Amino acid sequence: MQKKIEVYISDKEIEKQTDALAIKLKNEYFDKDPILIVILKGAFVFAGKLILKLDFPLSVDFMVIKSYDDSTESSGMIRIEEDITINIENRHVIVIEDIVDTGQTVNVLMKKLQTNNPKSLKLATLLDKPSRRKVDVVPDFSCFEIEDKFVVGFGLDYAQQYRNLPFIGILTEVK
Ligand code: IMP
Ligand code: MG
Repeated sequence: MQKKIEVYISDKEIEKQTDALAIKLKNEYFDKDPILIVILKGAFVFAGKLILKLDFPLSVDFMVIKSYDDSTESSGMIRIEEDITINIENRHVIVIEDIVDTGQTVNVLMKKLQTNNPKSLKLATLLDKPSRRKVDVVPDFSCFEIEDKFVVGFGLDYAQQYRNLPFIGILTEVK
């Protein structure tokens, strides 16, 4: 079956919301030298856009998490394939995610990071799909709340494809 992509959130809207998020983060963190933990792979485009708008001291680290097995349904299982290398104890930490869907990934992740005793730990996500939540997670910062649709682009994939789209799109199958 062939797949078609419809624009769901345009690059202009993403620009506007990431600008707004950068202002919020600056207000809260300009003198806190936070560590941004980027959750790979999905969040790399969002994080790249966002950090260029943050003009105050900060550090960046990465975690590679796998939560989906090339399908559009969450397996409910996550695996940490690469862990952070910076010590986050007593530091202000912001986790940067692409999307919070069932919430299972960030739930496990935030609990694990909390055991390293950061001074504060918050979650910033590009997209939030609250209607799909299975565990009680509320992002501290979110650019867009979206409906229950499977989206791709701007870093998000379907079977490792479409991460390079400069907008958020909806993937539909056409016969
Ligand atoms: P959760 O554990 O169900 O919250 O799933 C979070 C992860 O699933 C995200 O970090 C994404 O990698 C992936 N995911 C969830 N929804 C979508 C979607 O609509 N498009 C692409 N990936 C998604
Ligand atoms: Mg992800």
